[in-house]
Amino acid sequence: MIAGMNEGPGFGVYVHWPFCAAKCPYCDFNSHVRHQPIDQKRFVAAFARELATMRERTGPRDVSSIFLGGGTPSLMEPETVGAILDAVARNWRIPSGVEITLEANPSSVEADRFRGYRSAGVNRVSLGVQALNDKDLRFLGRLHNVEEALGAIRLAREIFPRMSFDLIYARPGQTTDAWRAELREAIGYAADHLSLYQLTIEEGTPFHALRTAGKLVELDLDLAADLYQTTQEVTAAHGLPAYEISNHAKPGAESRHNLIYWRYGEYVGVGPGAHGRFIEDGRRVVTFTEKHPETWAALVEARGSGVTGGEILSRSEEADEFLLMGLRLVEGIDLDRYEKLAGHPLHPERVAILREEGLLEPVGNSRLRATPAGMVVLDALVADLAR
Ligand SMILES: C[S@@+](CC[C@H](N)C(=O)[O-])C[C@H]1O[C@@H](n2cnc3c(N)ncnc32)[C@H](O)[C@@H]1O
Ligand code: SF4
Repeated sequence: MIAGMNEGPGFGVYVHWPFCAAKCPYCDFNSHVRHQPIDQKRFVAAFARELATMRERTGPRDVSSIFLGGGTPSLMEPETVGAILDAVARNWRIPSGVEITLEANPSSVEADRFRGYRSAGVNRVSLGVQALNDKDLRFLGRLHNVEEALGAIRLAREIFPRMSFDLIYARPGQTTDAWRAELREAIGYAADHLSLYQLTIEEGTPFHALRTAGKLVELDLDLAADLYQTTQEVTAAHGLPAYEISNHAKPGAESRHNLIYWRYGEYVGVGPGAHGRFIEDGRRVVTFTEKHPETWAALVEARGSGVTGGEILSRSEEADEFLLMGLRLVEGIDLDRYEKLAGHPLHPERVAILREEGLLEPVGNSRLRATPAGMVVLDALVADLAR
């Protein structure tokens, strides 16, 4: 059974570390390169202050997972990570066994810090491997090579109870056969979780500019759909089936933190550009913070938080978000919960049409999910259902 299927969706804490050693040409995450050393103590103090401000808003809670994401959190010193985790523990109860994940880049410098992270309390790492050949790693603008990636995977498996790594597929020129072989190799190195993302060309990135200039040709949609299909088949055949569009795990080894998002649970987000969604005074609120790291820190120093915006969601907005997140999951959505959030059931005729088209299917009599064909066109599917 999928982790926590019988529990509530949980309460997560997300901390965003916004710095990277270099900017990858495909990436539109909130990540910044600095040519001077980062004042980590200043950021720790700002995280601690923003966490305390969030605690005033959420009240006492039991934390179900903590996620240090980025950017490149493995550029943090282990003491920085320890101090952030201490700050989380000063604000909410952290039951034993809580999942504490850190995103890491697989360079050897960063791998050297793994033992320190483990001592600080991190029990899961997610490594950004991205490709298993040096040519594609260079194309993706990565600073590591395959040898370093394999070294980091080995070390992570030795040190952390749980680990996952990320690959990006559907790279220009990639064939189904080449991807199948690379994926099989990756499964051989994997522990019990893999994140496999199709390359997306995001506006404002160097890859976008290259595509506009005709110098980067994306895979056509049919081939990308074939690669997606291959991914589903190969991972399922090797005991790492998809539990979400891009995430694969042995049953029970799913990322509890990401499940909080997809099951539409609650989480606070601190740090530059972090989002949060939690219940405050009986209503679900959204928060987001200033993206620019030093401006965010200055805001926190001046007024206790870098939150620059947010809103109270209406029932229909909550219901739409619930659909958008929940239909990414192979377990699908709970129809009763949709009805409670929206104040009405899903439109029966639209559901019937989408089922006839083979895009939706029931799971038992209380849940609904996207079929594999539906997953490929998920955004359009959700837009159709939410209309
Ligand atoms: C927030 S990044 C952080 C991980 C870490 N900084 C790294 O790059 O190794 C999380 C993951 O998103 C994926 N990703 C980022 N941009 C992407 C894009 N344009 N297309 C597909 N996957 C992407 C990468 O696999 C990356 O590991
Ligand atoms: S290292 Fe990760 S977060 Fe940083 S730019 Fe590259 S993909 Fe984005």
